[in-house]
Amino acid sequence: MEGDDVAYLEAARTVDDRAHSDAATDAFRTALERPTLGRPARERPTPGADEGSGSADGVRVFEAGAGTCGMLRRLLDDGALPAGEWVAVDADERVLSAGRDRLHEAARVAGYGVETEGSELLLELPDDATLRVRFAVGDAREVADDRGGDFDGVVARSFADLLAPDDVLDLLGTAAPDGWYHLPLTFDGETRFAPEHPTDHAVIDAFHGTMRNRGRAATLLAERFREAGTPPTVDARADWVIEGTSDGAETHGGAAYPADEGTFLRIVLDTVVASVRESGAVSAATLSAWAGTRTAQLERGELGYVAVNRDLFGRVP
Ligand SMILES: C[S@@+](CC[C@H](N)C(=O)[O-])C[C@H]1O[C@@H](n2cnc3c(N)ncnc32)[C@H](O)[C@@H]1O
Repeated sequence: MEGDDVAYLEAARTVDDRAHSDAATDAFRTALERPTLGRPARERPTPGADEGSGSADGVRVFEAGAGTCGMLRRLLDDGALPAGEWVAVDADERVLSAGRDRLHEAARVAGYGVETEGSELLLELPDDATLRVRFAVGDAREVADDRGGDFDGVVARSFADLLAPDDVLDLLGTAAPDGWYHLPLTFDGETRFAPEHPTDHAVIDAFHGTMRNRGRAATLLAERFREAGTPPTVDARADWVIEGTSDGAETHGGAAYPADEGTFLRIVLDTVVASVRESGAVSAATLSAWAGTRTAQLERGELGYVAVNRDLFGRVP
């Protein structure tokens, strides 16, 4: 989805949290606890040996499109941060910098010691363990080319649908042979709004038409993994779901939607309308009527939304 910014990513957090599949989350967290699965112990780096080395103990993770560090902050909230090194990459300097600041603050509030070394954060975890978080601004494919090859795993949430499948497969080369990938919330080409509107099909079809492969990224990637002989060990639905009220009643402490999900939905709606307008696939009158109805429903808290995503986890091909 285009137009990502700090407000959108922050508003998405509760929607993301609900969407994750337990199966992929469990597989991912197990992999974080067993770093040598993807990398023989003799090849693991020693501390301070050179740029790119992390803690001698622990996992090394490359995260593409890290955004506002939502993945790391979720692990922090759950007391599940791993020891080791995590390289968070994003093309948007402003977004990644906001993520760094929020992670720092969340770790401080949670009672972890935090040291800074340049732009890096060194999080002091229980039992004398540490997690070094490095931040890199740039195209994940280029950063991966520079630093890749021996990470235990590659993480990319709500990201794999932004690249061509071949580029995602290349990116997974950042992991060591037998390393793992975790691609949660990968869009899979279905969007629904509720209640139904007579021109939904035209608008949503046009929206999907603006995306690479009509947005079927998860299906295509899973096929590619199967063809390469490494089918995903977890391929689970992880839809974004926001329910509207059927009668416009205010339900969440006076607000129409929980947390900041009204903002999330507004940005989704704006993105759909802008993309379809630019495509020219729907008449201006039809799009304007659809947008007007949907905006009024959003303001009344009646608008529901589902985006079909899948969580993919497995061994890199
Ligand atoms: C939908 S957001 C997801 C952010 C984060 N993973 C999350 O789930 O909260 C996608 C992120 O990918 C970043 N991005 C897009 N293309 C990129 C690229 N080629 N390399 C690195 N980051 C990219 C955007 O700046 C944005 O922060």
